Amino acid sequence: MKNNREQWGSRLGFILAASGSAVGLGNIWKFPHMAGQNGGAAFTIVYLICILIVGLPILLGELSIGRRTQLSPVGAFNRLSGSSNWKWVGYLGVGSAFVILSFYGVVGGWTLKYTIFSLTGGFDSLSGSPELSGQVFSSFIESSFQPIIWQIVFMAFCIGIIIKGVKSGIEEGAKIMMPLILIILGFLVVKGLSLEGGRKGLEFLFKPKFSDLNPSSIVLALGHAFFTLSLGMGTMITYGSYLNKKQNLMNSAIWIILLDTFIAMLAGTAIFTIVFAMGADPSSGAGLIFVVLPTIFPQIGGGIIWGTLFFFILFMAALTSAISILEVITAYFIDQKGWSRFKATFLFGGVITLVGIFCSLSLGNLNVTAFLNITFFDFLDELSSKYMLPIGGALTAVFIINKWSVNTFLDEILTGVQEKHLNRGLLINVLKVLLVVSSLIVGLIILNELSDLLFGSSLQKMVGL
Ligand code: PFF
Repeated sequence: MKNNREQWGSRLGFILAASGSAVGLGNIWKFPHMAGQNGGAAFTIVYLICILIVGLPILLGELSIGRRTQLSPVGAFNRLSGSSNWKWVGYLGVGSAFVILSFYGVVGGWTLKYTIFSLTGGFDSLSGSPELSGQVFSSFIESSFQPIIWQIVFMAFCIGIIIKGVKSGIEEGAKIMMPLILIILGFLVVKGLSLEGGRKGLEFLFKPKFSDLNPSSIVLALGHAFFTLSLGMGTMITYGSYLNKKQNLMNSAIWIILLDTFIAMLAGTAIFTIVFAMGADPSSGAGLIFVVLPTIFPQIGGGIIWGTLFFFILFMAALTSAISILEVITAYFIDQKGWSRFKATFLFGGVITLVGIFCSLSLGNLNVTAFLNITFFDFLDELSSKYMLPIGGALTAVFIINKWSVNTFLDEILTGVQEKHLNRGLLINVLKVLLVVSSLIVGLIILNELSDLLFGSSLQKMVGL
Protein backbone atom coordinates (compact mmCIF):
# COMPACT_ATOMS: atom_id res chain seq x y z
CA MET A 1 0.00 0.00 0.00
CA LYS A 2 1.26 3.44 -0.80
CA ASN A 3 1.55 5.70 2.22
CA ASN A 4 0.91 8.81 0.14
CA ARG A 5 -2.56 7.57 -0.84
CA GLU A 6 -4.99 10.37 -1.59
CA GLN A 7 -7.81 11.20 0.85
CA TRP A 8 -11.03 13.19 0.66
CA GLY A 9 -10.62 16.77 1.81
CA SER A 10 -13.80 16.89 3.91
CA ARG A 11 -16.79 14.85 5.05
CA LEU A 12 -19.15 16.95 2.95
CA GLY A 13 -16.87 16.50 -0.07
CA PHE A 14 -16.98 12.73 0.33
CA ILE A 15 -20.76 12.63 0.73
CA LEU A 16 -21.25 14.81 -2.33
CA ALA A 17 -18.81 12.71 -4.39
CA ALA A 18 -20.42 9.41 -3.34
CA SER A 19 -23.94 10.69 -3.88
CA GLY A 20 -22.70 12.14 -7.17
CA SER A 21 -21.78 8.59 -8.14
CA ALA A 22 -25.19 7.34 -7.08
CA VAL A 23 -27.18 10.14 -8.71
CA GLY A 24 -26.96 9.68 -12.45
CA LEU A 25 -28.79 8.58 -15.55
CA GLY A 26 -30.36 5.95 -13.31
CA ASN A 27 -32.22 8.60 -11.30
CA ILE A 28 -33.24 11.05 -14.00
CA TRP A 29 -33.49 8.87 -17.10
CA LYS A 30 -34.20 5.30 -15.95
CA PHE A 31 -36.26 5.71 -12.75
CA PRO A 32 -39.04 7.90 -14.21
CA HIS A 33 -39.64 5.70 -17.23
CA MET A 34 -39.53 2.50 -15.16
CA ALA A 35 -42.04 4.00 -12.72
CA GLY A 36 -44.12 5.27 -15.64
CA GLN A 37 -44.38 1.80 -17.14
CA ASN A 38 -44.87 -0.11 -13.89
CA GLY A 39 -47.74 1.57 -12.16
CA GLY A 40 -46.14 4.80 -10.94
CA ALA A 41 -46.48 4.97 -7.15
CA ALA A 42 -46.67 1.20 -6.69
CA PHE A 43 -43.23 0.92 -8.28
CA THR A 44 -41.92 3.86 -6.25
CA ILE A 45 -42.86 2.15 -3.00
CA VAL A 46 -41.28 -1.19 -3.88
CA TYR A 47 -38.18 0.66 -5.04
CA LEU A 48 -37.91 2.49 -1.70
CA ILE A 49 -38.25 -0.77 0.24
CA CYS A 50 -35.52 -2.37 -1.90
CA ILE A 51 -33.20 0.57 -1.34
CA LEU A 52 -33.53 0.13 2.42
CA ILE A 53 -33.36 -3.65 2.67
CA VAL A 54 -30.81 -4.42 -0.05
CA GLY A 55 -29.12 -1.09 -0.65
CA LEU A 56 -28.20 0.01 2.86
CA PRO A 57 -26.35 -3.13 4.07
CA ILE A 58 -24.39 -3.56 0.85
CA LEU A 59 -23.51 0.14 0.67
CA LEU A 60 -22.25 -0.02 4.26
CA GLY A 61 -20.37 -3.21 3.44
CA GLU A 62 -18.58 -1.68 0.45
CA LEU A 63 -17.65 1.52 2.29
CA SER A 64 -16.31 -0.51 5.24
CA ILE A 65 -14.22 -2.84 3.07
CA GLY A 66 -12.70 0.18 1.30
CA ARG A 67 -11.94 2.15 4.43
CA ARG A 68 -10.55 -0.82 6.35
CA THR A 69 -8.05 -1.73 3.61
CA GLN A 70 -7.42 1.70 2.06
CA LEU A 71 -7.37 -0.19 -1.23
CA SER A 72 -9.47 -0.47 -4.36
CA PRO A 73 -11.54 -3.69 -4.86
CA VAL A 74 -8.96 -6.23 -6.11
CA GLY A 75 -6.40 -5.39 -3.42
CA ALA A 76 -9.12 -4.98 -0.78
CA PHE A 77 -10.67 -8.44 -1.25
CA ASN A 78 -7.22 -9.96 -1.50
CA ARG A 79 -6.04 -8.42 1.73
CA LEU A 80 -9.14 -9.19 3.80
CA SER A 81 -9.56 -12.76 2.60
CA GLY A 82 -5.95 -13.80 2.85
CA SER A 83 -6.67 -16.14 -0.04
CA SER A 84 -6.42 -15.15 -3.63
CA ASN A 85 -9.81 -16.40 -4.86
CA TRP A 86 -11.90 -13.57 -3.45
CA LYS A 87 -9.88 -11.06 -5.42
CA TRP A 88 -11.89 -12.22 -8.44
CA VAL A 89 -14.86 -10.32 -7.01
CA GLY A 90 -12.62 -7.27 -7.32
CA TYR A 91 -11.73 -8.15 -10.91
CA LEU A 92 -15.45 -8.58 -11.63
CA GLY A 93 -15.89 -4.99 -10.42
CA VAL A 94 -13.13 -3.68 -12.68
CA GLY A 95 -14.72 -5.60 -15.57
CA SER A 96 -18.16 -4.15 -14.77
CA ALA A 97 -16.67 -0.67 -14.80
CA PHE A 98 -15.39 -1.24 -18.36
CA VAL A 99 -18.75 -2.58 -19.47
CA ILE A 100 -20.90 0.13 -17.86
CA LEU A 101 -18.80 3.12 -18.84
CA SER A 102 -18.73 2.00 -22.48
CA PHE A 103 -22.47 2.56 -22.91
CA TYR A 104 -22.85 5.17 -20.17
CA GLY A 105 -20.41 7.43 -22.04
CA VAL A 106 -22.55 7.16 -25.17
CA VAL A 107 -25.69 8.32 -23.33
CA GLY A 108 -23.56 10.99 -21.61
CA GLY A 109 -22.78 12.28 -25.10
CA TRP A 110 -26.52 12.38 -25.95
CA THR A 111 -27.17 14.55 -22.87
CA LEU A 112 -24.58 17.06 -24.08
CA LYS A 113 -26.02 17.09 -27.60
CA TYR A 114 -29.55 17.66 -26.26
CA THR A 115 -28.35 20.48 -23.95
CA ILE A 116 -26.94 22.32 -26.97
CA PHE A 117 -29.89 21.30 -29.17
CA SER A 118 -32.28 22.90 -26.67
CA LEU A 119 -30.10 25.98 -26.15
CA THR A 120 -30.05 26.69 -29.86
CA GLY A 121 -33.86 26.52 -30.08
CA GLY A 122 -33.89 23.11 -31.79
CA PHE A 123 -36.85 21.84 -29.72
CA ASP A 124 -39.14 24.49 -31.27
CA SER A 125 -39.62 22.50 -34.44
CA LEU A 126 -40.57 19.40 -32.38
CA SER A 127 -43.29 21.12 -30.38
CA GLY A 128 -46.31 18.85 -29.85
CA SER A 129 -45.06 16.26 -32.31
CA PRO A 130 -43.76 13.06 -30.69
CA GLU A 131 -43.47 11.23 -34.05
CA LEU A 132 -41.14 13.84 -35.48
CA SER A 133 -39.21 14.02 -32.22
CA GLY A 134 -38.86 10.22 -32.26
CA GLN A 135 -37.51 10.35 -35.80
CA VAL A 136 -35.03 13.11 -34.97
CA PHE A 137 -33.78 11.19 -31.92
CA SER A 138 -33.47 7.87 -33.80
CA SER A 139 -31.66 9.37 -36.72
CA PHE A 140 -29.26 11.11 -34.31
CA ILE A 141 -28.38 8.02 -32.25
CA GLU A 142 -28.22 5.79 -35.32
CA SER A 143 -25.88 8.03 -37.27
CA SER A 144 -22.22 7.05 -37.50
CA PHE A 145 -20.51 10.32 -36.78
CA GLN A 146 -22.36 12.83 -34.56
CA PRO A 147 -23.05 10.73 -31.44
CA ILE A 148 -19.44 9.56 -31.40
CA ILE A 149 -18.15 13.12 -31.36
CA TRP A 150 -20.44 13.94 -28.40
CA GLN A 151 -19.40 10.74 -26.64
CA ILE A 152 -15.71 11.66 -27.06
CA VAL A 153 -16.35 15.13 -25.63
CA PHE A 154 -18.19 13.60 -22.65
CA MET A 155 -15.37 11.10 -22.03
CA ALA A 156 -12.82 13.91 -22.30
CA PHE A 157 -14.58 15.73 -19.42
CA CYS A 158 -14.56 12.50 -17.44
CA ILE A 159 -10.86 11.77 -18.09
CA GLY A 160 -9.93 15.41 -17.38
CA ILE A 161 -11.55 15.30 -13.93
CA ILE A 162 -10.08 11.93 -12.93
CA ILE A 163 -6.57 12.97 -13.96
CA LYS A 164 -6.78 15.85 -11.47
CA GLY A 165 -7.13 13.35 -8.63
CA VAL A 166 -9.46 12.53 -5.75
CA LYS A 167 -9.51 15.86 -3.96
CA SER A 168 -8.97 18.42 -6.70
CA GLY A 169 -10.78 16.46 -9.39
CA ILE A 170 -13.60 14.21 -8.12
CA GLU A 171 -14.36 16.09 -4.89
CA GLU A 172 -14.16 19.60 -6.32
CA GLY A 173 -16.27 18.54 -9.32
CA ALA A 174 -18.95 17.07 -7.06
CA LYS A 175 -18.95 20.14 -4.82
CA ILE A 176 -19.87 22.27 -7.83
CA MET A 177 -22.15 19.92 -9.73
CA MET A 178 -24.23 18.32 -6.95
CA PRO A 179 -25.59 21.58 -5.48
CA LEU A 180 -26.31 22.81 -9.02
CA ILE A 181 -28.28 19.64 -9.79
CA LEU A 182 -30.32 20.04 -6.60
CA ILE A 183 -31.05 23.72 -7.14
CA ILE A 184 -31.99 23.42 -10.81
CA LEU A 185 -34.17 20.36 -10.14
CA GLY A 186 -35.87 22.33 -7.38
CA PHE A 187 -36.73 25.09 -9.88
CA LEU A 188 -37.99 22.53 -12.39
CA VAL A 189 -40.24 20.96 -9.74
CA VAL A 190 -41.71 24.35 -8.84
CA LYS A 191 -42.26 25.08 -12.52
CA GLY A 192 -43.91 21.70 -13.06
CA LEU A 193 -46.19 22.08 -10.04
CA SER A 194 -47.23 25.55 -11.14
CA LEU A 195 -48.49 24.29 -14.49
CA GLU A 196 -52.20 23.64 -14.70
CA GLY A 197 -52.89 19.94 -14.28
CA GLY A 198 -49.31 19.32 -13.13
CA ARG A 199 -50.42 17.98 -9.75
CA LYS A 200 -51.87 14.90 -11.44
CA GLY A 201 -48.24 13.95 -12.01
CA LEU A 202 -47.68 13.94 -8.25
CA GLU A 203 -50.58 11.61 -7.76
CA PHE A 204 -49.29 9.31 -10.46
CA LEU A 205 -45.90 9.07 -8.77
CA PHE A 206 -46.95 8.91 -5.12
CA LYS A 207 -50.50 7.56 -4.81
CA PRO A 208 -50.22 3.78 -5.02
CA LYS A 209 -52.63 1.44 -6.72
CA PHE A 210 -51.40 -1.92 -5.56
CA SER A 211 -53.29 -3.69 -8.30
CA ASP A 212 -50.61 -2.28 -10.61
CA LEU A 213 -47.88 -4.23 -8.84
CA ASN A 214 -46.63 -7.40 -10.45
CA PRO A 215 -43.66 -9.68 -9.80
CA SER A 216 -41.66 -8.40 -12.73
CA SER A 217 -41.87 -4.83 -11.47
CA ILE A 218 -40.53 -6.06 -8.14
CA VAL A 219 -37.58 -7.70 -9.87
CA LEU A 220 -37.00 -4.54 -11.85
CA ALA A 221 -37.08 -2.36 -8.74
CA LEU A 222 -34.54 -4.61 -7.03
CA GLY A 223 -32.13 -4.52 -9.94
CA HIS A 224 -32.49 -0.79 -10.16
CA ALA A 225 -31.73 -0.35 -6.46
CA PHE A 226 -28.24 -1.70 -7.21
CA PHE A 227 -27.66 0.37 -10.28
CA THR A 228 -28.84 3.60 -8.73
CA LEU A 229 -26.68 3.25 -5.61
CA SER A 230 -23.63 2.27 -7.72
CA LEU A 231 -23.36 -1.04 -5.88
CA GLY A 232 -21.85 -4.35 -6.87
CA MET A 233 -18.77 -3.21 -8.74
CA GLY A 234 -16.56 -1.73 -6.07
CA THR A 235 -17.23 1.96 -6.72
CA MET A 236 -18.12 2.46 -3.08
CA ILE A 237 -15.14 0.31 -2.00
CA THR A 238 -12.90 2.63 -4.01
CA TYR A 239 -14.53 5.80 -2.66
CA GLY A 240 -14.47 4.33 0.87
CA SER A 241 -10.74 3.68 0.50
CA TYR A 242 -10.08 7.43 0.45
CA LEU A 243 -11.83 7.88 3.83
CA ASN A 244 -10.09 8.32 7.17
CA LYS A 245 -11.05 6.57 10.39
CA LYS A 246 -12.86 9.59 11.83
CA GLN A 247 -15.83 9.35 9.48
CA ASN A 248 -19.10 7.91 10.70
CA LEU A 249 -19.90 5.39 7.95
CA MET A 250 -23.51 4.77 8.97
CA ASN A 251 -24.24 8.45 8.86
CA SER A 252 -22.57 8.87 5.48
CA ALA A 253 -24.39 5.85 4.01
CA ILE A 254 -27.74 7.25 5.14
CA TRP A 255 -26.92 10.63 3.59
CA ILE A 256 -25.94 9.03 0.28
CA ILE A 257 -29.16 7.01 0.18
CA LEU A 258 -31.31 10.00 1.14
CA LEU A 259 -29.75 12.26 -1.47
CA ASP A 260 -30.00 9.61 -4.19
CA THR A 261 -33.63 8.87 -3.38
CA PHE A 262 -34.57 12.51 -2.95
CA ILE A 263 -33.11 13.40 -6.34
CA ALA A 264 -34.88 10.47 -8.04
CA MET A 265 -38.16 11.68 -6.50
CA LEU A 266 -37.50 15.28 -7.51
CA ALA A 267 -36.67 14.20 -11.06
CA GLY A 268 -39.80 12.05 -11.20
CA THR A 269 -41.90 14.94 -9.88
CA ALA A 270 -40.45 17.46 -12.34
CA ILE A 271 -40.93 15.11 -15.28
CA PHE A 272 -44.42 13.80 -14.49
CA THR A 273 -45.90 17.16 -13.50
CA ILE A 274 -44.75 18.56 -16.86
CA VAL A 275 -45.87 15.44 -18.75
CA PHE A 276 -49.34 15.43 -17.12
CA ALA A 277 -49.83 19.18 -17.49
CA MET A 278 -49.21 18.86 -21.21
CA GLY A 279 -51.28 15.71 -21.63
CA ALA A 280 -48.36 13.58 -22.83
CA ASP A 281 -48.05 9.83 -22.30
CA PRO A 282 -46.35 9.00 -18.94
CA SER A 283 -45.67 5.41 -19.94
CA SER A 284 -43.81 6.04 -23.16
CA GLY A 285 -40.71 4.18 -21.98
CA ALA A 286 -37.05 4.93 -22.53
CA GLY A 287 -37.95 7.73 -24.96
CA LEU A 288 -39.75 9.69 -22.22
CA ILE A 289 -36.76 11.96 -21.75
CA PHE A 290 -35.22 12.25 -25.19
CA VAL A 291 -38.40 12.03 -27.27
CA VAL A 292 -41.37 13.26 -25.23
CA LEU A 293 -39.83 16.08 -23.19
CA PRO A 294 -38.37 17.95 -26.21
CA THR A 295 -41.90 18.16 -27.64
CA ILE A 296 -43.26 19.59 -24.39
CA PHE A 297 -40.65 22.18 -23.37
CA PRO A 298 -41.45 24.57 -26.25
CA GLN A 299 -45.08 24.66 -25.04
CA ILE A 300 -44.30 26.00 -21.58
CA GLY A 301 -43.21 29.58 -20.91
CA GLY A 302 -39.41 29.98 -21.11
CA GLY A 303 -39.16 26.53 -22.68
CA ILE A 304 -35.67 27.06 -24.09
CA ILE A 305 -34.30 27.79 -20.63
CA TRP A 306 -36.16 24.94 -18.89
CA GLY A 307 -35.21 22.45 -21.59
CA THR A 308 -31.57 23.49 -21.55
CA LEU A 309 -31.41 23.37 -17.75
CA PHE A 310 -33.02 19.95 -17.71
CA PHE A 311 -30.54 18.37 -20.12
CA PHE A 312 -27.67 20.19 -18.45
CA ILE A 313 -28.45 18.59 -15.08
CA LEU A 314 -28.80 15.25 -16.82
CA PHE A 315 -25.31 15.82 -18.23
CA MET A 316 -23.85 16.75 -14.83
CA ALA A 317 -25.52 13.79 -13.14
CA ALA A 318 -24.13 11.46 -15.81
CA LEU A 319 -20.67 12.99 -15.44
CA THR A 320 -20.43 12.64 -11.64
CA SER A 321 -21.39 8.98 -12.05
CA ALA A 322 -19.09 8.33 -15.01
CA ILE A 323 -16.08 9.63 -13.10
CA SER A 324 -16.79 7.22 -10.26
CA ILE A 325 -16.82 4.36 -12.73
CA LEU A 326 -13.52 5.37 -14.34
CA GLU A 327 -11.99 5.85 -10.88
CA VAL A 328 -12.50 2.12 -10.15
CA ILE A 329 -10.26 1.28 -13.09
CA THR A 330 -7.72 4.02 -12.45
CA ALA A 331 -7.43 3.08 -8.76
CA TYR A 332 -6.84 -0.56 -9.70
CA PHE A 333 -3.87 0.31 -11.89
CA ILE A 334 -2.47 2.73 -9.32
CA ASP A 335 -2.87 0.35 -6.35
CA GLN A 336 -2.02 -2.96 -7.94
CA LYS A 337 0.29 -2.08 -10.79
CA GLY A 338 1.95 1.05 -9.43
CA TRP A 339 1.00 3.11 -12.52
CA SER A 340 0.71 6.88 -12.44
CA ARG A 341 -2.81 8.34 -12.26
CA PHE A 342 -2.25 10.07 -15.59
CA LYS A 343 -1.16 6.94 -17.44
CA ALA A 344 -3.95 4.73 -16.03
CA THR A 345 -6.72 7.25 -16.68
CA PHE A 346 -5.59 8.30 -20.10
CA LEU A 347 -4.95 4.81 -21.39
CA PHE A 348 -8.08 3.12 -20.07
CA GLY A 349 -10.31 6.14 -20.55
CA GLY A 350 -9.19 5.89 -24.19
CA VAL A 351 -9.86 2.15 -24.43
CA ILE A 352 -13.36 2.60 -22.97
CA THR A 353 -14.08 5.42 -25.39
CA LEU A 354 -13.09 3.09 -28.22
CA VAL A 355 -15.39 0.30 -27.00
CA GLY A 356 -18.10 2.94 -26.55
CA ILE A 357 -17.75 3.88 -30.22
CA PHE A 358 -18.76 0.33 -31.12
CA CYS A 359 -21.67 0.65 -28.71
CA SER A 360 -22.86 3.76 -30.44
CA LEU A 361 -22.35 2.29 -33.92
CA SER A 362 -24.38 -0.77 -32.90
CA LEU A 363 -27.49 1.43 -32.82
CA GLY A 364 -26.90 2.20 -36.50
CA ASN A 365 -25.37 -0.10 -39.03
CA LEU A 366 -22.38 -1.75 -37.37
CA ASN A 367 -23.56 -4.11 -34.68
CA VAL A 368 -20.86 -6.49 -33.49
CA THR A 369 -23.36 -8.55 -31.48
CA ALA A 370 -25.89 -8.89 -34.31
CA PHE A 371 -25.48 -12.69 -34.12
CA LEU A 372 -27.02 -12.57 -30.63
CA ASN A 373 -30.01 -10.59 -31.90
CA ILE A 374 -29.27 -7.68 -29.64
CA THR A 375 -27.42 -4.40 -30.14
CA PHE A 376 -23.96 -4.20 -28.57
CA PHE A 377 -25.34 -1.23 -26.59
CA ASP A 378 -28.19 -3.24 -25.04
CA PHE A 379 -25.92 -6.23 -24.59
CA LEU A 380 -23.53 -4.25 -22.37
CA ASP A 381 -26.42 -2.58 -20.51
CA GLU A 382 -28.14 -5.90 -19.75
CA LEU A 383 -24.92 -7.76 -19.00
CA SER A 384 -23.99 -5.23 -16.34
CA SER A 385 -27.28 -4.32 -14.70
CA LYS A 386 -28.91 -7.75 -14.82
CA TYR A 387 -25.88 -9.92 -14.05
CA MET A 388 -22.56 -8.28 -13.19
CA LEU A 389 -23.74 -5.76 -10.57
CA PRO A 390 -26.17 -8.07 -8.75
CA ILE A 391 -23.59 -10.91 -8.76
CA GLY A 392 -20.89 -8.53 -7.46
CA GLY A 393 -23.24 -7.25 -4.75
CA ALA A 394 -24.39 -10.69 -3.63
CA LEU A 395 -20.79 -11.94 -3.50
CA THR A 396 -19.82 -8.93 -1.39
CA ALA A 397 -22.56 -9.83 1.11
CA VAL A 398 -21.48 -13.50 1.11
CA PHE A 399 -17.86 -12.40 1.57
CA ILE A 400 -18.76 -10.37 4.64
CA ILE A 401 -20.80 -13.16 6.23
CA ASN A 402 -18.51 -16.08 5.43
CA LYS A 403 -15.04 -14.74 5.17
CA TRP A 404 -14.55 -11.33 6.71
CA SER A 405 -16.91 -11.83 9.68
CA VAL A 406 -19.82 -9.62 10.65
CA ASN A 407 -18.03 -8.87 13.90
CA THR A 408 -15.11 -7.14 12.16
CA PHE A 409 -17.57 -5.47 9.79
CA LEU A 410 -19.34 -3.98 12.81
CA ASP A 411 -15.98 -2.86 14.26
CA GLU A 412 -15.31 -0.94 11.06
CA ILE A 413 -18.79 0.61 11.04
CA LEU A 414 -18.36 1.70 14.67
CA THR A 415 -14.91 3.23 14.08
CA GLY A 416 -15.58 6.95 14.13
CA VAL A 417 -18.92 6.60 15.95
CA GLN A 418 -19.00 8.51 19.24
CA GLU A 419 -21.93 6.69 20.87
CA LYS A 420 -20.47 4.16 23.35
CA HIS A 421 -23.53 2.38 24.76
CA LEU A 422 -24.49 0.21 21.83
CA ASN A 423 -25.87 -3.29 22.02
CA ARG A 424 -23.25 -5.10 19.90
CA GLY A 425 -25.01 -8.44 19.98
CA LEU A 426 -28.20 -6.95 18.64
CA LEU A 427 -26.38 -4.98 15.94
CA ILE A 428 -24.49 -8.06 14.78
CA ASN A 429 -27.74 -9.98 14.45
CA VAL A 430 -29.44 -7.15 12.55
CA LEU A 431 -26.49 -6.95 10.16
CA LYS A 432 -26.47 -10.71 9.65
CA VAL A 433 -30.19 -10.80 8.86
CA LEU A 434 -29.91 -7.88 6.46
CA LEU A 435 -26.92 -9.37 4.64
CA VAL A 436 -28.47 -12.82 4.36
CA VAL A 437 -31.78 -11.39 3.17
CA SER A 438 -30.15 -9.16 0.60
CA SER A 439 -27.89 -11.87 -0.78
CA LEU A 440 -30.86 -14.25 -1.00
CA ILE A 441 -33.02 -11.67 -2.74
CA VAL A 442 -30.27 -10.82 -5.18
CA GLY A 443 -29.53 -14.51 -5.74
CA LEU A 444 -33.19 -14.96 -6.66
CA ILE A 445 -33.12 -12.09 -9.14
CA ILE A 446 -30.10 -13.57 -10.83
CA LEU A 447 -31.67 -17.05 -10.99
CA ASN A 448 -34.81 -15.47 -12.38
CA GLU A 449 -32.89 -13.70 -15.11
CA LEU A 450 -30.81 -16.76 -15.91
CA SER A 451 -33.86 -18.95 -16.19
CA ASP A 452 -35.39 -16.41 -18.54
CA LEU A 453 -32.21 -16.37 -20.60
CA LEU A 454 -31.64 -20.12 -20.72
CA PHE A 455 -35.19 -21.52 -20.75
CA GLY A 456 -37.07 -18.57 -22.19
CA SER A 457 -39.26 -18.34 -19.10
CA SER A 458 -38.59 -16.62 -15.81
CA LEU A 459 -39.16 -18.35 -12.46
CA GLN A 460 -42.15 -16.20 -11.68
CA LYS A 461 -43.82 -17.29 -14.92
CA MET A 462 -42.96 -20.92 -14.20
CA VAL A 463 -44.70 -20.78 -10.83
CA GLY A 464 -47.62 -19.05 -12.45
CA LEU A 465 -47.32 -15.51 -11.07
N1 PFF B 1 -25.55 5.08 -10.02
C1 PFF B 1 -25.46 5.51 -11.38
C2 PFF B 1 -26.82 5.95 -11.89
O1 PFF B 1 -27.82 5.83 -11.16
O2 PFF B 1 -26.89 6.41 -13.02
C3 PFF B 1 -24.88 4.47 -12.30
C4 PFF B 1 -23.67 3.77 -11.77
C5 PFF B 1 -22.56 4.51 -11.39
C6 PFF B 1 -23.67 2.39 -11.66
C7 PFF B 1 -21.46 3.87 -10.84
C8 PFF B 1 -22.59 1.74 -11.12
C9 PFF B 1 -21.50 2.49 -10.73
F1 PFF B 1 -20.48 1.90 -10.20
